[in-house]
Amino acid sequence: MPLPVPVPPEGVDPAWLPPAAFRPLGSRRTLIRGSGPLVDTVHGEVAEACARFGGRVVRDAGPGAAPYDLVLAVTGSGGEEFTCARRDGTTTVTAAGPAGLLYGLFHVVRLGEDAFRAGRAPETHRPAVASRMLDHWDNVAVHPVMGQVERGYAGGSLFWADGRARGDLERVRAYGRLLAACGINAVAVNNVNVHAVEAHLLTDRIGEVAAIADALRPYGVRTHLSVTFAAPVVLGGLPTADPLEEAVRAWWARATRRVYEAIPDFGGYVVKADSEGQPGPFAYGRSHADGANALAAALEPYGGTVHWRAFVYDHRQDWRDRTTDRARAAHDHFTPLDGAFAPNAVLQVKHGPMDFQVREPVSPLIGAMPRTRLAVEVQATQEYTGQQRHVCWLGPMWSEVLRFRPDGRTPVGELARGGLVAVSNAGDDPFWTGHPLAQANLYTFGRLAWQPDAEPRALLDEWIALTHPDAPGRLAAGLHAVLDGSWRTYEKYTAPLGVGFMVQPGHHYGPSVDGYEYSPWGTYHFADRDGVGVDRSRATGTGYAGQYAEPWARLYESPDTCPDELLLFFHHVPYGHVLHSGRTVIQHIYDTHFEGVAEVERARAVWASLAGLMDPARHARAAQRYEEQLRGAREWRDQVNSYFFRKSGVPDRRGRRIY
Ligand code: GCU
Repeated sequence: MPLPVPVPPEGVDPAWLPPAAFRPLGSRRTLIRGSGPLVDTVHGEVAEACARFGGRVVRDAGPGAAPYDLVLAVTGSGGEEFTCARRDGTTTVTAAGPAGLLYGLFHVVRLGEDAFRAGRAPETHRPAVASRMLDHWDNVAVHPVMGQVERGYAGGSLFWADGRARGDLERVRAYGRLLAACGINAVAVNNVNVHAVEAHLLTDRIGEVAAIADALRPYGVRTHLSVTFAAPVVLGGLPTADPLEEAVRAWWARATRRVYEAIPDFGGYVVKADSEGQPGPFAYGRSHADGANALAAALEPYGGTVHWRAFVYDHRQDWRDRTTDRARAAHDHFTPLDGAFAPNAVLQVKHGPMDFQVREPVSPLIGAMPRTRLAVEVQATQEYTGQQRHVCWLGPMWSEVLRFRPDGRTPVGELARGGLVAVSNAGDDPFWTGHPLAQANLYTFGRLAWQPDAEPRALLDEWIALTHPDAPGRLAAGLHAVLDGSWRTYEKYTAPLGVGFMVQPGHHYGPSVDGYEYSPWGTYHFADRDGVGVDRSRATGTGYAGQYAEPWARLYESPDTCPDELLLFFHHVPYGHVLHSGRTVIQHIYDTHFEGVAEVERARAVWASLAGLMDPARHARAAQRYEEQLRGAREWRDQVNSYFFRKSGVPDRRGRRIY
C-alpha cells in the first residue's frame, strides 16, 4: 500500500522538495518491486508525483508487463546502497534493501530529466558512514536562559511545544522526508544539556519519544535520545550513578529494556558528561570509558549505540593561568582511553578543538584513537557564524574538515567510522531554518555525510536546482553567487586568522573583542600593544601543536610554516609579522574587515536583483536579514579595526576610516 506523502501545514516552505522537483518522475511510467514499509513510502512518493503530473505507477507487476520508464526494485533485505542504470529506454534503480530504494528514489528526483537521458552510465552509490545524524538541542520545557531550542535560530522546536511532544506530528513527518532526501538517517530529539523535565523522556515520558519515532520512521530516520548520566539518581532514586555499581548497571538495563519495548528500532543514547556542568563519571573517580561502557552494555542486546561526547574541558578556568589550554582538553582526556570503549560506544568529537568557531584547526583527537569508533560533530545551527541572520554557507568549511588527513594519509571522512553528526539548524519557522538560505547548510551536511569527498559547490548547485526547479539561469547564478563565498566573507569581517571568540558573551551574537578575555571559559586572544594570538607551540607555548601527528605537528609549530588562516590560533605574533600572503597581520586585519563588509554589500545587491524570480515571501525574508547582516558586518568591522588600531597604534596603509 502506498503511504501518503506528509503534507506540512499551510504556509510551510517546501524547502528542497517542492512539487515541481517531481515532474520528470511524475510524468512517467514507473514499476516498483519490493515490500515493506519503506517501499510503501517510495510507492507513496511516486503515486503522489504521478497524480500531479499524469504518470503511472505499478507495484510488483509480473513478467511481460508494459514497458516502464523507471523501475525501482529491491533485490535484498538490507543495506542503503543502490545502483542506477539506464538501458533500452528504462532507468532502473536496484537497491540492496528498502532503505537503499528510498535513497535511490531521491537520487532520481535530484537527477530530474537527466535520470532518463539515453546513454547514462550506471552508477552505484553507498554512504561512506552508516550513521548520518542530526542532534537537536531542543528542550521540552522552555529553559529560562536558553529557551525552547538551545542555540536555535529557527523558531521553536519541531518536536516539542507547550511542555510536551506535539500532538500533530505531520510536520515531523515532512521533516523526516526532507532529511531522507539529503541522506540523513538518525535524529536525537532533545538537548545534550538534559534538564530536569527532559530527563524523564528516558522513563515515564518515553511514549512521547515513541510518537516522534513513529513519525520519523517511514523515511528511514531512527530516533536517539539525550540522557543524563545521573539518571539512576534523579529518576531511579539510587544513591549513586557510579557506572561500576551493579545496581546502577541493572537500572540502565531495565530502563533501556523499556525504551526498546516502546521503540523497537531505537537508535541509542547521546551523552554529554562532565562537560559544562553536566554530571559524569568523574564524580565517582571513574573514566569516561567506564561511563560510556555502562550505557553501551545496556544498549548492546538491542543493537543500540551510545554517542558519548568528547566535549570535556575546564569551563571554570582562571584567565591568569597561562598553562591550561582548553584546546588541549579533549585529546588529553580521551587518548589514554583508546581501545577501552565498547564496540557500540561512539566517541563524538567536535570538528575543532574549541567550539565551532568560524575557523579552527581540525581536532587532533581525530585520528589519534585508532581503536575507538569516532563520530565527528559539526554545527549546522549557526551559533558562531551569524545565527541565521547572516548568510554563511558552511559546505566548504565542512568539506575542508572531512578532507583533512590527520596522519597525512586517511581523510577525516574515512576516520569517522562512528558517523557524522550535525547540530540541527531547523525549527518550527515557516522556512525551517529562519534564514531561507540556511536550508543549504542542512542539505549540504546530509549530502556530505553520505559522501564526505563530494565537491561542496556541486552540492550547492544541487540544492539550488532542487529548491528552485524552474529557476531561470539568472536566479541560479545569483543564488550561487551569494552563498558560495559566504563563509569566507563571514570570516573576513569577524575574528581574524583563527583566533576565535570575539563574540558577545552568553548569546554569542555580534562582536565583543574582549568579551571572553577575562572569563573562565578558556577562550583568549591575548592581544596587547605588541601583538595578538595564542602560543600553542611545543617550544614556548601550551604544547597543543604537539598533539598532532606529522606532518601537522611540525607545520603548526612554527609561525613560518603555519597556514595564515590559523596563525593566531597557534602563535602569538607581533602586529608587523608578515603573513605568507605578503601582508602584515595588522594590515590583514584592516583589509579583510573592509573587504568583508564590501562583500556583504555586493551580496545584498545581488539578492535585491533577484526579486520577482522566486516566492516573494522567501525573497522578503532574506532581504530583511541582509539588512541585519550588513549592519552586523559594519559593527564587526568597526569594533575589530578600532580595537586593533588602538592597541597597536599602527595606521591603515590605505588611510581608511577607523574609529
Ligand atoms: C557550546 C554551546 C552550548 C552547548 C555546547 C555543547 O558551548 O554554546 O550551548 O551546550 O556547545 O556542545 O555541549
